[in-house]
Amino acid sequence: MVELSPSFELEYQPIDNDHRRLIGIVNQIVKALDDGRVEECAVLVPDFVNFAKKHFLREEAFLKKVGYPQLQKHYHHHRELNAKMDTMVRLAQTARDSEVARESLGKELVFFLMDDVINADLDFKSYLADKGLIEPR
Ligand SMILES: [Fe+2]
Ligand SMILES: [Fe+2]
Repeated sequence: MVELSPSFELEYQPIDNDHRRLIGIVNQIVKALDDGRVEECAVLVPDFVNFAKKHFLREEAFLKKVGYPQLQKHYHHHRELNAKMDTMVRLAQTARDSEVARESLGKELVFFLMDDVINADLDFKSYLADKGLIEPR
């Protein structure tokens, strides 16, 4: 189970809520894989991908609004993750018949969370704090 620990929260509710939901769907998928309910992945993975892509657009619009100077870099980072998510959808389609696909799907999903929610998004947390848009703990 992945949880959003307080140090990874941005203290900006709309984005934190998105991140919580992304983590929630990943946990559901990982649990379904563990419990052998692989067929659920065919629905859950595309749901995750759709929500994550919308999340990126919301996050980019927010960063643009607040004048985040590294927006381009973050934008490209999101596009790379979009490409990885297309791979996840393919893995979910073959997960039923392939142990290898199930394993890589679980790993890719957790890696995705680490990459966006935990790593890359912390880059703009200090910017938001400097601008007084959030109150860091
Ligand atoms: Fe994010
Ligand atoms: Fe992001």
